Amino acid sequence: MIIAPSLLAADFTRLGKEAERAAASGADWLHLDVMDGQFVPNISFGPAVVAAVRPHAKNLFFDVHLMCEKPEILLEPFVKAGADQIIVHVELNERVPQLLWKIKSLGIKAALAVNPPTAITAVQPYLDKIDMLLVMTVNPGFGGQSFIHECLPKIQQAEAWRRERKLSYRIEVDGGINNQTAAECARAGADTFVAGTSLFGARSLKTAVKQMRKMVNGSDPGLADLLI
Ligand code: DX5
Ligand code: ZN
Repeated sequence: MIIAPSLLAADFTRLGKEAERAAASGADWLHLDVMDGQFVPNISFGPAVVAAVRPHAKNLFFDVHLMCEKPEILLEPFVKAGADQIIVHVELNERVPQLLWKIKSLGIKAALAVNPPTAITAVQPYLDKIDMLLVMTVNPGFGGQSFIHECLPKIQQAEAWRRERKLSYRIEVDGGINNQTAAECARAGADTFVAGTSLFGARSLKTAVKQMRKMVNGSDPGLADLLI
């Protein structure tokens, strides 16, 4: 199981220190939410910020989530900034195959996200081309929103497809993830958990990561052995 604190919920006046805190917390990944004010009604940060943070969290895998209208122009800059994986949205429709191909050709992992209102069938053509599927559990744009329970069947479907087609993409969830909702998602088949508010907002990030890991591992002991 992968625990990925989202930097969006960190203290922006001290991002280096916050990244160090994440790196020392026992978390596996750092999730970086890039918003362009077009694809979503909010703006966060760009490649320069990711590059500045990178040396402060050398041991963490950088999971870059592009909520952007034109990811084409951002792929190379984010790879140079230190991204290990880039996530693009299936809502970009016919541009998706080219984007996934470009990410792979830059030598990093490629992932696809699906928003709550979008049918899970939209990702079906790409399942054998991705390293991870991100099932959004809030409408993207802002941290601190409530988990949308209607997204759980999409996780189950993604897990069923993975099993039936003998694929190995990870299944990530993002938005409103706390110990309870993480456990529900784990039971549905998720193995990668992004959490902003519930982790960075906790008094001890280290304890919060440990507790969340315990919750998701405990939710299905059989699966926990298979998906480390
Ligand atoms: C939502 C972002 C999330 C966000 C999650 O647009 O994609 O990654 O940081 O924040 P919480 O965990 O606070 O819902
Ligand atoms: Zn995200």
